[in-house]
Amino acid sequence: MTSAKLKTIVLIGGSGTNLQRIIDLTHQNALAIELQAVISHRPSAYGLKRAELAQIPNFCIDHSTFQTRSDFEDALKNLLNEFNPELIVLAGFMRILSPTFIKQFPGKIINIHPSRLPLYKGLNTHEAAIKAGETIHGATVHFVTADLDGGPIIAQSSVTIAPTDKASSLQEKVQMTEYLIYPHVIQLFAEHKLCLKPDGVYLNNQLLPLEGIQL
Ligand code: GRF
Repeated sequence: MTSAKLKTIVLIGGSGTNLQRIIDLTHQNALAIELQAVISHRPSAYGLKRAELAQIPNFCIDHSTFQTRSDFEDALKNLLNEFNPELIVLAGFMRILSPTFIKQFPGKIINIHPSRLPLYKGLNTHEAAIKAGETIHGATVHFVTADLDGGPIIAQSSVTIAPTDKASSLQEKVQMTEYLIYPHVIQLFAEHKLCLKPDGVYLNNQLLPLEGIQL
């Protein structure tokens, strides 16, 4: 018996290397998802090309053409609702989503952030970690809630910061781990093993610690 694949949409805004990894693993049947569509908020995002090459329906909702955040989000919501996705994966999507938008997809939106949250929310995380003299850095997959970069944590990776590391080399190291932890988490969703409840993230019906799964 084959079970239905998890209906998934990826939202992007840039080069889409995480998207590429998700596409590749899906094509190798290593991810039990149906990639319904890729949506970018920037027309120049190379991820759109990646989706096109992989023959995945792709759309651009150019945020810069909307008067207000609410108008942009209405357009995004309407498009998403045409697909009725079970999981919405943010991968380099660089727009802040309002609480009103997020509430319409409860427990269905996940993001990957390039730091070990709650450390280094926001931008320029690699520079910040080096400047602070950290020896460990990494990435976090978390549920998206109204709390920016503060939603419940599902999984984290870690890398060692070498004394010679610059932001660019550290970014590369962290991204290599993103390509592992994001698909890992997506597959857990596809197997219906993960869910968000009012008191936190559950994996196999067990409440995860606040720092999520350490991968
Ligand atoms: C990743 O580093 C991710 O942590 C952050 O945006 C970047 C997206 O990169 N949220 P890409 O577009 O997947 O190459």
